[in-house]
Amino acid sequence: MTDDPHPAPSIRAATRADIDPIAVIEALSFYSIDEIFTPKQIARLIRSPNAIVLVAASPGSILGWGAVLHKRTRRGVTGRIYSIAIHPDARGQRLGDALARELIRQLREHAATRIYLEVRTDNEAAIRLYKSLGFTVARTLSDYYAQDIHAYSMRMDMLPISDEDSVSVSVTRAT
Ligand SMILES: CC(C)(COP(=O)(O)OP(=O)(O)OC[C@H]1O[C@@H](n2cnc3c(N)ncnc32)[C@H](O)[C@@H]1OP(=O)(O)O)[C@@H](O)C(=O)NCCC(=O)NCCS
Repeated sequence: MTDDPHPAPSIRAATRADIDPIAVIEALSFYSIDEIFTPKQIARLIRSPNAIVLVAASPGSILGWGAVLHKRTRRGVTGRIYSIAIHPDARGQRLGDALARELIRQLREHAATRIYLEVRTDNEAAIRLYKSLGFTVARTLSDYYAQDIHAYSMRMDMLPISDEDSVSVSVTRAT
């Protein structure tokens, strides 16, 4: 059997070696300097025990990345999506969807039951992606990124994994 010449991209935890390619994707993906994560900020996220930082990688190249933070509050664990960005040449291949789903899965492993994010109100691709995953618009944040550049605060609530298991058990019994 021969090796697949075009293996599917894999999703894995980011390492320090990924910082520069991630910074390139950030610079290609966002408009304003305030929205773009710098290499220093990316390095800090990779080191942070409260962050999950993943890349979508094919052999020899980084095609996208995503970062979330998790935080324990009095009401439980919440997650916040910091960034998801796919290299412009690799968009439309479901990598954004795959990265987002894996970030959410790992947040749930950290017991998160609510996830937040902010997204520009004119970012149709991202809004559609997040809605397809179950996020809803909680409110509009006027002038969030800069004057006249507004954001939606989006939110998704999830059952704790253990509760969901018991729901699926009871559904199984009922049928
Ligand atoms: C948003 C982004 C991450 C989507 O990544 P992607 O890999 O191209 O998206 P996918 O191929 O996984 O598509 C998943 C879903 O996203 C939505 N979507 C993706 N591209 C879209 C587009 N150009 N227009 C409308 N919806 C789009 C669709 O709902 C799509 O599902 P569908 O194909 O079943 O309709 C990518 O466009 C990107 O990196 N944008 C710049 C950075 C950014 O804005 N990040 C989000 C910041 S909050």
